[in-house]
Amino acid sequence: MFEQNPYSKLISNYIQQAEFPNEPRELYDPIRYILSLAGKRIRPMLVLMSARLFGEQDMSKALPASAAIEYFHNFSLIHDDIMDNAPLRRGKDTVHEKWNNNVAILSGDGLLVKAYQELGKSPKEHIAELLTVFNQVAIEVCEGQQLDMDFEKQLEVREEDYLRMIKLKTSVLLGGALQMGAILANATKEQQDLIYGFGVNLGIAFQLQDDFLDVYGDPSSFGKQVGGDILANKKTILHIHTQHLAKDADQEEFQLLIQDSNISNEDKVNRMKNLYAKLNVDQYAEGVKQRYMHLAYEQLSQLNVDATRKEELFALADMLMHRAK
Ligand code: IPE
Ligand code: IPE
Ligand code: MG
Ligand code: MG
Ligand code: MG
Repeated sequence: MFEQNPYSKLISNYIQQAEFPNEPRELYDPIRYILSLAGKRIRPMLVLMSARLFGEQDMSKALPASAAIEYFHNFSLIHDDIMDNAPLRRGKDTVHEKWNNNVAILSGDGLLVKAYQELGKSPKEHIAELLTVFNQVAIEVCEGQQLDMDFEKQLEVREEDYLRMIKLKTSVLLGGALQMGAILANATKEQQDLIYGFGVNLGIAFQLQDDFLDVYGDPSSFGKQVGGDILANKKTILHIHTQHLAKDADQEEFQLLIQDSNISNEDKVNRMKNLYAKLNVDQYAEGVKQRYMHLAYEQLSQLNVDATRKEELFALADMLMHRAK
């Protein structure tokens, strides 16, 4: 469903024609590998859609920045999979699983450098402004990723802290992608802020859906290990709200599941899912997701551009909320 639109074709062609050296193989093979697994390519699409939204017709001006965003995203996934001990990505072995941790660290670093090289191919008059946004987003993603790991060990995490964490690790990249598109189309600062705000709220809803799919995704289409967040004691919205609601025997069961290392992986996931079901936390998470979607839609509606030009962004947002992978 994501593969068919014209933006996605432009991005694929652009990324496919990128050439990486053959040697050293263990530096460049993993880069080729992760990029060939593609994924949904939402973030580069957001760059292009935003540039078009604000009146830029020549997509070639925005392609380097959109590739930079996708490279950065893929770099963050390679490292995230080490940190999360994840075996699967996009239905295939993760880089550290297929090679090893050291290879995954360095090829991730290489991909980050490639992201900056791509960004540098943007129209000269925009590079300084693009870099400012890109750097701010990049450091915030690191902050969010560190909080995500800190929270794994923390016994209690408040929902507002969770929301701040996902804003940093996930949402600002969606917001930044849109803002970069706006910059490339010479949008005003006010318009940039609005489209960034739309992206941040969309991104929060997107990560809430990601948390949901980690538990309820169909293993044959999800492409990642189902139950991975439960096994790692990730402080997802489902986890946090279960802890908040569970009383007496349910709270005891919950504590046992997160603390007892003798429980098998399969048991831990199934018993945690039983608690989630009993307390209806999936419905709660859906409600929070709807709230952020609504905020996002409101911001996009407020934007002072021709309504027909917003349609493709509304459509993409809709698709993201109902995705299965
Ligand atoms: C995965 O992002 C990482 C998150 C922020 C949840 P995507 O779901 O966009 O991953 P790909 O690029 O489509 O594989
Ligand atoms: C990832 O969050 C955010 C970044 C990669 C920065 P997750 O750890 O939930 O992403 P997935 O589920 O592995 O794709
Ligand atoms: Mg992960
Ligand atoms: Mg993670
Ligand atoms: Mg996830």
